[in-house]
Order: sequence, then C-alpha cells, then structure tokens
Amino acid sequence: MPPLTNQRKRVVSGMRSTGKLHLGNFVGALDNWVRMQDQYECFFFVADWHALTTDYADTSRIKENSLEVLLDFLAAGLDPERCTLFIQSHVPQHAELHLLFSMITPLGWLERVPTYKEQKENITEKDLNTYGFLGYPVLQSADILIHKGEFVPVGEDQVPHVELTREITRRFNMFYPGKNSPVFPEPQPLLTPAAKLPGTDGRKMSKSYGNTILLTDPEPLVRQKLKTMVTDPARVRRTDPGNPDICPVGDLHKIFSDPNTIAKVDAGCRSAGIGCIECKGWAADALVKILTPMQERRKKYEENPRLAWDILEAGSAQARKGASATMDEVRQAMGMSLEYAPNVPTKK
Ligand code: TRP
Ligand code: SF4
Repeated sequence: MPPLTNQRKRVVSGMRSTGKLHLGNFVGALDNWVRMQDQYECFFFVADWHALTTDYADTSRIKENSLEVLLDFLAAGLDPERCTLFIQSHVPQHAELHLLFSMITPLGWLERVPTYKEQKENITEKDLNTYGFLGYPVLQSADILIHKGEFVPVGEDQVPHVELTREITRRFNMFYPGKNSPVFPEPQPLLTPAAKLPGTDGRKMSKSYGNTILLTDPEPLVRQKLKTMVTDPARVRRTDPGNPDICPVGDLHKIFSDPNTIAKVDAGCRSAGIGCIECKGWAADALVKILTPMQERRKKYEENPRLAWDILEAGSAQARKGASATMDEVRQAMGMSLEYAPNVPTKK
C-alpha cells in the first residue's frame, strides 16, 4: 500500500467495467497510468457504478467484468505497492458527494455535455432516458474530487467531463468556501499523448464497433486479426504503391514499432517494395511484444483471482479512509457537520 501522505500531486482516474480491456484502452489511458505511478500519488479504480449507467438492466456479469478490468490493470503494470487500486461501489462516499453535487449542478450543463447527446443517439438498443445517465459526469466529478484529484489522465473524449468537474468545483467552492482554503482543488485533464488507435476496420478501436484487439488475445488471434485489417485502399495490387499515413496498419506501426521498422514500412510501402502481408506481420510482431509481458503478469492472478480481489479490497479500504476525511471537510464547509452547534434553536 502506498503511503497516505506525501508531497506528490494527486492523480485520479477510473475505467468503466464493461468487459475485457483492449489495446485502445491501453494506449488511451492505462499505459499513461502505469508511467505515472512513481511521479504522482495515484488512485485508479474500477468504475462499476458508471458501467450501470448503460448496463443497468442486466447485472449478471457485472462482478466478472470488474474482475476482468482489475486483472487487466494488474497485467498492464499497475502496482498496488505504488498506487491505490479500488472499486467505486465499495467507496460509498463517491455516492454521497455525487448527491451533494447533483444539488448544485444546473441541468443545462449536463445536457450540453457532448458525450450525452452522442451516446443517446448512437446507443439505440438501450433506454438511456434515465436520471443516472444524464448524471454520469456528476458522478465522475465526485469520483475525482472525493480524492481531491489534481490531475486526471484520460483520453480526449473524456475532457468535457473533466471540464464539467472544474465548473462544479468552482461552484461548490463559491457556495461553500470553507474556513481557510477551498475544499476542492480544480482538477486538470492530463491528455494521453498517443493518437487514436485504429481498430481492425480502420475506425477508432472501440468495443461497440467490434474491431478490437484485446489485451488478452493470444498471439495466433492477434496475427489473424491483423491479416484481416483494412489497409490503404489505393493499394489494390502488390505492385501498387501505398501511403502508410492513410493506412491503419501504418498507424499501428507509428504507435508500436521501433524507428527502423517505421522507416522500412514507409519506404517499402511508398515504393511497393514490400507487400501488405509482410508489413502486417511486422505490426503483429510489435503488438505481440507488448502483449506478451502483460499476459505473463496476468497469469498469476488468473490462476488465483482471490489474490487480485484482496488487492481491490485493501485498496478500497484505503480509499474509504481518505474519502471519509474529505466528506468531513465537505460537511463542515456546508454547515452540516454533526458537531453540536449552540446557535441552533432548541425547543423549550
Ligand atoms: N468516464 C470514464 C470513461 O468512460 C470513466 C471514469 C469514471 C473516470 N469516473 C472517472 C475517468 C473519474 C476519470 C476520472 O472512460
Ligand atoms: Fe498499409 Fe503496410 Fe500495406 Fe502500406 S504496406 S498499405 S502501410 S499495410
């Protein structure tokens, strides 16, 4: 368990538990988290309540999904000795703060969040006309602020949520200034530098498109997925020159391959000196090289999931302590502490 108090800045981030994570989750967030562990005081969590905003009607797989996400966290290299790993639903202060934030958040702010409209239009097979779905970013704000997060490492799509968190922070601190200093810091998004990762169909890698490469995919499956991956459409025949800058496989190389391979791909593709099959083989090599150590780390926990669950339990206990201290400050600032206050009129 990392020490509770130190000088490092606080980082908070979470991942919705909707199933096994894919390479897009890795380059978009996880990889960044892993590298932050020594520089910041990190809190990373499984957002199982957030999974409910879309998957509320069937919770039969919810625990299994949380465990899968946790295993992927550990496989990717999150280390319980260096960060606090926990599960949202077992730190009830997130919900308590969410309720208070819901009182001060104007509806218009929520209706304006771009992900709200987009998802409601795109996800047609579920009824997202719920209170919880609209409030998704309010819960996210509570997630961040209950741990006084100063930095929030997320992908670009999440930036509006962090912006909303900043607005809620300012509004809370204005209404309830606290005794000496504001209760909450204004958190900042820490954008993951990596570009969007293309999936096998060339669109952004996303579970809902069914174009993912999972962190748990074994080598033969990775190679097979690469084989069917779309390429520069102008390269129809082996003798046609191509352009790796408009080819999704070219994008994979830029993210995962070493500079020599990237140069070889660039020259070979443009001159038709290499074929796509060969090029995809090299891309698969690069992916396998990244995935193999993760899958090896994962094995230990797959064989004994109890080990992983114990980490989550201990981390959640740790997170509850800090969250409970924040709630004390919140109640104090709002004039709602349990402390006996003599100016409260009492019945004679
Ligand atoms: N909304 C985030 C996502 O979909 C997950 C999330 C929930 C989160 N709570 C958070 C991210 C708090 C950062 C901080 O990926
Ligand atoms: Fe894409 Fe590689 Fe084929 Fe060029 S050679 S089109 S980069 S797969």
